[in-house]
Amino acid sequence: MLPAAYFKRYRMERMLEALPAMPELPAGFTWQSWSPMLLDVHAEVKYRSFRDEMDVEIFPSLGYLAGCRELMHNIATRCEFVPEATWLIVGPDGPCATIQGLREGSCGSIQNVGVVPEQRGKGLGAALVLKALHGFQRRGFERASLEVTSQNGLAVRLYQRLGFRATRILYKPTHKILQDEALVI
Ligand SMILES: CC(C)(COP(=O)(O)OP(=O)(O)OC[C@H]1O[C@@H](n2cnc3c(N)ncnc32)[C@H](O)[C@@H]1OP(=O)(O)O)[C@@H](O)C(=O)NCCC(=O)NCCS
Repeated sequence: MLPAAYFKRYRMERMLEALPAMPELPAGFTWQSWSPMLLDVHAEVKYRSFRDEMDVEIFPSLGYLAGCRELMHNIATRCEFVPEATWLIVGPDGPCATIQGLREGSCGSIQNVGVVPEQRGKGLGAALVLKALHGFQRRGFERASLEVTSQNGLAVRLYQRLGFRATRILYKPTHKILQDEALVI
């Protein structure tokens, strides 16, 4: 039998006071607020953003389209769903970035920040997170939280730059055995 393997993940949090102002999106990119009609669009962008990423080892449904649709459906139909923190960015080539929010007591919980590979490095990831934070603030939440795989250095740095700090370390099981420091056997 294979030994259990785990990915190290951080829970990160920040207070919702003193949020930076929303930056302009790059030319040609626009915000699309939540509508149930956009469920499949969010799912497709989520799939394109995550299918080749390490998080698929922890959350296999991120690696196939039907899994992403089910995940989106589960998020959007929960009574904790926060539409004000759920956004899509549409670019010149179509929808390209997605984020969703859930309520966790007095905390807004960010889910699945994803930007398709062709549009990364343009500030869309940071803009999505800030947009969700402003949505949580409008809803009166005190804090925001998210979880990130420790090995996902780019995402960890992005969240730190936006004021998030690690508050807890979590270990999530993966079905694959990988040779890296994120793995604990
Ligand atoms: C993490 C992710 C959302 C970031 O999206 P993004 O639009 O590239 O983010 P930004 O452009 O706002 O910032 C990315 C950082 O990488 C830098 N960068 C430069 N070129 C880049 C490129 N080609 N691709 C990615 N990042 C690049 C940016 O300058 C920025 O650096 P900084 O934080 O030091 O300023 C995106 O990489 C992604 O979807 N990854 C796969 C899914 C994932 O892991 N999501 C996080 C789950 S917790």
